[in-house]
Amino acid sequence: MRELSIRTAGFTDSVIRRMTRISNAHGAVNLSQGFPDFDPPAEIINRLTQVALEGPHQYATTWGAQNFREALARKQEHFSGVKVDPDKEIVVTCGSTEAMMAVMMSITNPGDKVAIFSPFYENYGADAILSGAESIYIPLNPPKFDFDADLLEDAFRQGAKALILCNPSNPCGKVFTMDELKIIADLAIKYDAYVITDEVYEHIIYAPNKHVYLSSLPGMKERTIICNSLSKTYSITGWRLGYVIADERISDRVKKVHDFLTVGAPAPLMEAVVVGLNFKDEYYLELQNHYTHMKNLFTNGLKQIGLKYSEPQGAYFVMVDISEFNCNDDLKFCEWLAKEVKVGAVPGSSFFKEDINQYIRFHFAKKDETLNMALDRLSEIYNKVRATAEFRV
Ligand SMILES: Cc1ncc(COP(=O)(O)O)c(C=O)c1O
Repeated sequence: MRELSIRTAGFTDSVIRRMTRISNAHGAVNLSQGFPDFDPPAEIINRLTQVALEGPHQYATTWGAQNFREALARKQEHFSGVKVDPDKEIVVTCGSTEAMMAVMMSITNPGDKVAIFSPFYENYGADAILSGAESIYIPLNPPKFDFDADLLEDAFRQGAKALILCNPSNPCGKVFTMDELKIIADLAIKYDAYVITDEVYEHIIYAPNKHVYLSSLPGMKERTIICNSLSKTYSITGWRLGYVIADERISDRVKKVHDFLTVGAPAPLMEAVVVGLNFKDEYYLELQNHYTHMKNLFTNGLKQIGLKYSEPQGAYFVMVDISEFNCNDDLKFCEWLAKEVKVGAVPGSSFFKEDINQYIRFHFAKKDETLNMALDRLSEIYNKVRATAEFRV
């Protein structure tokens, strides 16, 4: 048989989804793959029931239904203060996953360089490979996950055409400060580069941190390409609704790439979620309160058990430092954790470009009873380690 594509030959299956399978096989509480185990807002579900009977059930406009884009433009302007043209500057996609791929294919040529902060959301590496771009990684240094501006400038000096900025960050929960964003903006302008922002956790922020939209900084609207999603904000990861917001020149290209990739996002789901896009501020405040509750419940539990972690500023993940276990293989540690402690986590090394394997990532977008069950089990971690003599504490 003829050989398959060289470009994708090095792809492994997603470590996150592999850990989900391992967790399920051992009956572990799965805190690896990030998705809520609570329901989406009732208004959205009720509207979906209506839409099931009334439609639409056929293709929507390829770059997204008009009422969806109009509601989204209003919401974006409300929160970011930046005006968005719903006809010219929005492309609705099948999740932010497609948004990022469509953007990468729209702006890069094979061999172009793209800068990525490390640790990073695992899809970015694959997106770069699929679009033929070469990645330059800039470390976010644990435990604070700050970066060296000189190294970032170095990436631009090497010719990076774009920077991918995940803010708030998966996996490390970092929220970039205004000062950090100004450094990024100044460099992007100086080196005439794009910044592709992944802002899927824009509404999951822990006080006193604030989400600053990079596009709102002077000179950044025209060079910021926002990839975002409804997955996290409305707890509908399975609906596969995302979008790109960018200047017309860029959006116009993304529309075409998107059309050939997927034609369009699901019409009935777009219709059903417009009610959510029109929610008032109270919804987002409640969402923030709910996530703050889950974060506090889980991290206070970790603290009581004695595990070391980096305090999340945003998103719904926490990185736990496992260096005290003297295990230099975090994948092995996560497999052991799922099998013996019965809690699923993701090995941190799957997010770092650097050789760092002393972290594991838990997500906490879960009901109280799920988090309490995980904490109960984790409270046995030191006993289990001693009993199995697998690692040393
Ligand atoms: C940082 C980040 N970007 C993108 C996605 C994917 O979002 P979507 O469900 O919209 O494809 C995720 C999902 O976990 C994520 O954590």
